[in-house]
Amino acid sequence: MTQQEKMIKHKQSINDLRYIEISNMSARAKIALQGAHVFHYERVDEKPLLWLSKKSFFEKGKAIRGGIPVCWPWFGKHPTNSELPQHGFARSSVWELLEAEEIDGHTTKVLLQLQPSAESLQLWPHKFELLLAIIVGRTLTLALTTRNCDTQPFEITAALHSYLAVENIEKVYVEGLADKSFFDKVTGENRTQQGKLTVCQEVDRVYRKVDYPLTLHDQARTLHVDAQGSSTAVVWNPWIEKCVAMADMKDDSYKTMLCIEAANAPGDACMLTPREEHTLTSVISSDQEIL
Ligand code: BG6
Repeated sequence: MTQQEKMIKHKQSINDLRYIEISNMSARAKIALQGAHVFHYERVDEKPLLWLSKKSFFEKGKAIRGGIPVCWPWFGKHPTNSELPQHGFARSSVWELLEAEEIDGHTTKVLLQLQPSAESLQLWPHKFELLLAIIVGRTLTLALTTRNCDTQPFEITAALHSYLAVENIEKVYVEGLADKSFFDKVTGENRTQQGKLTVCQEVDRVYRKVDYPLTLHDQARTLHVDAQGSSTAVVWNPWIEKCVAMADMKDDSYKTMLCIEAANAPGDACMLTPREEHTLTSVISSDQEIL
């Protein structure tokens, strides 16, 4: 077995869902082909940075609860048809693996592609190419490129919906959002963030004109979410009642996760003309030194 084969393992499967397992000198990651979904990322000698629900479905056609779902070509509810799937179809579609290569002993790159299918054209009648480049190293980088392959312009909204792992939600705070205006999806109001963000109830907010990076202060470490190609950030924690109501979360799951999502949420939608492309990039890192 070559060194490369040891570090990139293909065709593992949970309930028939194929995934790739990556292991290099800096980090380990797991990526499901359904959804191009990074559902595990941990740096060597550090707790996982991404949260994964112990009750997550690993089933065909159902998004994994945790990690980084790719919300595309619309974020949240469909703007005109509430029967269409929340957060689009990319997270529940099977992507094609184009490349998996070691850049060096500390860095591995994976490239996945989604193209139109009969099902996608029914949900969203546009020709596109969607690429997700994932770089697993001391930091985790995801770059989602949308290319318009159609003859007409189209508009997308999207998010790299990262679930960050925290020790105790009531003791964390997020810096970088002070004075930013946001749409509060819980109350339906537009508001302005006063100081740092703490979480002691349901939080579901779309922040505008965000200056990345955003910093999540947990008890023993500090996580950063940096982004390019995005001016909106979504922060979400379902809190007690919604968490209990979700079949794929344990009742107390809300205590150990916080989503900070680099997004092109409504208000920051991308209109692409034929052959034009847009890349939404998110970089997740930690301040904890590797031992
Ligand atoms: C967030 C949305 O991004 O995702 C929330 O702002 C939503 O409104 C949450 O509840 C989870 O969505 P889903 O479809 O994965 O349950």
